[in-house]
Amino acid sequence: MHSGTFGGYFPLELNLSEQHYYPTARGYRSARSALYHLLTEKKPQRLWLPRLICQSVIEAVKAARVEIAWYTLDEALFPQLPAVLAESDFVLFVDYMGHCQPQKEKLMRLYPAGRIIFDHSQSFYNAPEPVFATVYSPRKFFGVADGGLLVTQDAMPLPASQDRDSFTRMTHLLLQHEYGTRAGYEDFQHAETALEDIEASRMSALTEKLLLSVNYQKIKAVRQRNYMFLRQQLASINASPFCADDIAGPFCYPLYFTGKKLRPRLIEQGIFVASYWQEVLSHVSEKSVEADYVNYMVPLPCDQRYEIADLKVMCQRVLDVIAGK
Ligand SMILES: Cc1ncc(COP(=O)(O)O)c(C=O)c1O
Repeated sequence: MHSGTFGGYFPLELNLSEQHYYPTARGYRSARSALYHLLTEKKPQRLWLPRLICQSVIEAVKAARVEIAWYTLDEALFPQLPAVLAESDFVLFVDYMGHCQPQKEKLMRLYPAGRIIFDHSQSFYNAPEPVFATVYSPRKFFGVADGGLLVTQDAMPLPASQDRDSFTRMTHLLLQHEYGTRAGYEDFQHAETALEDIEASRMSALTEKLLLSVNYQKIKAVRQRNYMFLRQQLASINASPFCADDIAGPFCYPLYFTGKKLRPRLIEQGIFVASYWQEVLSHVSEKSVEADYVNYMVPLPCDQRYEIADLKVMCQRVLDVIAGK
C-alpha cells in the first residue's frame, strides 16, 4: 500500500529483497540504542564489560543505569572473569574483528548462556549464538548512516519511538558519490556525533529499506576474497595470532605490527585506517593486552570497495612504510 497520494516525484529505486539478513532481529537506531533498550528492559544489576571497548557502549550502559564491573583480557583475548558470576551479573563480550569464535564458545561453556551478551558490531556475518542477546552495527560493513540490530529470545516490547532523522545523517553518503570520500568526511563526523544521544529508538524506515537492498552474499564473498589476499601478502610481517582463514565476511584484515607506529605513516600514504578506542589507554596499563591492541592493531580495509588490483597497491604501500621508504 503506498501513501495514498498519486503522481509527483519518484522514490529511490532500491532493489528490496524479501527479508533481512537476520530476519528475527529487531531494528534499532544504532547498536548502542539496542543495548540501552535491552538493559533498561531487563534491568540487570551489574554488567561485566571489557576494558577494551568502544566508549559508546560504556555510555549506553551508564545511561541505562546499570553498574559496570570491568574485566581485562588475557593474551588470547579471553576475559579474565571470576569463576562464577554473581546471581544477577551479566557479561558482555565483543567478537573483536570477528576473530573470537573460540573465545565465545569457551565463554558459553563456562558461564550461563542466558547471562551473556555478544557484541557483533565488528562481526556482522557471524550468526547469533544461543545467548541472552547479540547486537550488530550494520554501518560498520555497509553504506548506511545508522542502524543497529538486536537478536534476543527474551520477550521485549519494541521501543515506542522510531528514528525519523536518518535522512539528515546521510549527506556524507551522497557527497561521496559526487566528490569522493574525503569530501564527505566532515559530514560523516557530524552524522556520527548525532548518534551520541542515547535513547531507545527503532530503526528508521530509510535505513531499513537500504539494508533490505544490500547484496549480503556478494559482499561477504568479496570481503573473504580480499581478506585471503591480504593474509597471503602480509602474513610474514603480521604478528597477530588472530588471522584465521575461516572468518565470515571479515570486518578488516588486522595487521599487528609493533615495530613502529604504522597508523600515521599509512594515513600519509592515503590508507585511512581507523584508530579504535583511544580512550581505553587512560584506563589500562601501558604494557597491557588492551594497550597493545589499541596501539598496534591496524585494521586494513578488505571490504567490498576493493578489487585485488587495489589491494596490490595498498600492500605495496604498507610494505614500503614498514621498510621505511
Ligand atoms: C564494539 C562496538 N560495539 C558497539 C558499538 C556501537 O555501535 P553503534 O555506533 O551502532 O551504536 C561500537 C561503535 O563503534 C563498537 O565498536
